[in-house]
Amino acid sequence: MVEYYGELCTRVYESNKSIAEGKELDFFLSFVKDKNMKVLEPMCGNGRMLIPFMQEGIDIEGFDISEDMLKLCKEKCRELDLIPVISNKKIEEYKSNRKYDLIMIPFGSFSLLPDILVDQSLDNMKSMLKNDGKLLLTIITKKSEPEEILNWIQTNCVKFHEETIVEYKKVQYDPVKKMLHTKLKYELIQKDLVIKTEIMDFPMRLYEKGEFESTLKINGLQKIVIHEVANGYGTGTSFNVYECSI
Ligand SMILES: C[S@@+](CC[C@H](N)C(=O)[O-])C[C@H]1O[C@@H](n2cnc3c(N)ncnc32)[C@H](O)[C@@H]1O
Repeated sequence: MVEYYGELCTRVYESNKSIAEGKELDFFLSFVKDKNMKVLEPMCGNGRMLIPFMQEGIDIEGFDISEDMLKLCKEKCRELDLIPVISNKKIEEYKSNRKYDLIMIPFGSFSLLPDILVDQSLDNMKSMLKNDGKLLLTIITKKSEPEEILNWIQTNCVKFHEETIVEYKKVQYDPVKKMLHTKLKYELIQKDLVIKTEIMDFPMRLYEKGEFESTLKINGLQKIVIHEVANGYGTGTSFNVYECSI
């Protein structure tokens, strides 16, 4: 069955990306100057970043397109005695009269949007930013020519109590639209039998150097600062965050 961040994908995601920590968390927390600030996290998924923010007593709301990710976020919050303010919405359609001091999208999630959804999504975020508010976007940039994988290869195998989920992928690159099209397949195995299969299209927009900065400027965002967070996801890793304002 074709799904987007469905049940099996969500369980695999949670197995190694449950809660943000270390330099990545410190980086995003450093933008919260006082506890009265209002924060929005579009595409908040399983609450990886939202939950540690709530634990710091920060007023944060989130939304996501995936019911399974949101359900998991709620379960994790319940265990921690936290009540999340989250909803099932699409970033390209999300409108609110509320204004935020900080809107943040960590972990490359904004790169999941194809060009056709980018302008509307940025416009929605702009309309909810306070005059002195900040927008933080983590973007995936193209570092080398993507390697295509035409046949399924196994990429992960996660063992749970009495079951296993095996993940496979295939990859194609569209150089015109600069989209990396990954197809993911998840198989849930119990007693050597595949009892559920989930297929997911996972498109990723790969930005060229300087390209996303132009996108922000064209959409009226200013005061752009590009941060490189060294060792952000652990030693030897790094990622870029685009900070901007209206
Ligand atoms: C890679 S996960 C990252 C989640 C979270 N940002 C984090 O840091 O762990 C990407 C999330 O984006 C959500 N998503 C993808 N497209 C979306 C859209 N158009 N509107 C809202 N959420 C979307 C997915 O459902 C998924 O939960």
